[in-house]
Amino acid sequence: MAAGAVAAGLTAVVAGAVAGPVALAGEGPGATAIVAQLALLTGLACVFGGACGGLLLGQATHRPGLLPPAAWATAAGGLAGVAEIRRRAMGLGLGPFLHTPPGRSALWGSVSLAACCAALTAAGVSSGRGRRLWNAAVSAAAAGAMLTHVLSGHAAEGSGAPLKVAVQWAHMLAGGAWGGGLVALLLAIRGAPDADKAAAARRFSTLAAGALATLAATGVVRTLGEAGNLEALAGTTYGRLLAAKAALLLLLAALGARNRFRHLSVAERDLSGLRRVVALEIAVMLAAFAVTSVLAQARPAREAALRGAPGYFEAASTRPSAECAAASLASGTRNGEHDT
Ligand code: HEM
Repeated sequence: MAAGAVAAGLTAVVAGAVAGPVALAGEGPGATAIVAQLALLTGLACVFGGACGGLLLGQATHRPGLLPPAAWATAAGGLAGVAEIRRRAMGLGLGPFLHTPPGRSALWGSVSLAACCAALTAAGVSSGRGRRLWNAAVSAAAAGAMLTHVLSGHAAEGSGAPLKVAVQWAHMLAGGAWGGGLVALLLAIRGAPDADKAAAARRFSTLAAGALATLAATGVVRTLGEAGNLEALAGTTYGRLLAAKAALLLLLAALGARNRFRHLSVAERDLSGLRRVVALEIAVMLAAFAVTSVLAQARPAREAALRGAPGYFEAASTRPSAECAAASLASGTRNGEHDT
């Protein structure tokens, strides 16, 4: 095949928006990339939130069953998918890819997930205090995997990266503790109501309130970090996706309030209302993660403002993506992206 055809093919792959947070001029992200990202985010959330749930909800009520292995496998599949999509978009073999920032992120993500797997296995075969300690280790390893993911996203770009990364990490941890914790809670409050389950649900409600406040505060800070100012969001896909996330967060807050002020007070006698609303919260949370998976691949609003600026990389431009990948290797920028 002629070199020009290969370059055109690679450019088409990038234009198909499969390369993670590459600046993709006017193109929507590909379905495969979104599914891989969604698997990674929800899998990590369930591993992290499930382990936090194990610590918070207590041994008596928390029997995680198949949740931890299923969540781990989902996260591992998502990580492999995201990495492979980025590698292909950069047109690199595995060896060279592992020397790029997204390749290194995938590598460290795999190390963290391997540690998660070992800790999950140990937690599964231990009991009492040992299980609590291993659950803490699972949470720490999942938090590490989230950090490696954040380090390959928009937060790690440009000025003030360490602060943006810290805020984004807190955002992801809050989303994971709440989202994954909801699934653990739903499993914990199966069966007949009792005082232990009611107490566990009350403890979770306090954690959810903290997560809500953290998500809102860090979400606003990250939005300003990406957009510069709120006017820059108007009329962009990125802005619309953020508005959808804010609406979903409000809905989650309303559902959480309903549980706290209505269903928790009767939880010792009747758990049906609580279970119904928790299931609804999980569905809304899933929608929030789906929107986030698209958002993480969309062009941040501040980049949209740079469109047309000299040197700004357009995926569908005449510049071959393989050339960009090589430049990325040399300069340390991500995903073949060219900074302006
Ligand atoms: C509804 C609950 C929410 C959940 C579960 C959630 C979850 C997440 C996660 C997991 C990420 C990391 C995505 C990635 O790097 O792959 C993220 C990114 C982000 N979130 Fe949220 N979020 C929520 C609400 C919000 C709200 C209300 C805002 C804005 C006010 C917001 C603004 C952002 C921004 C700006 C990013 C960075 C996206 C980028 O990399 O360009 N989030 N969110």
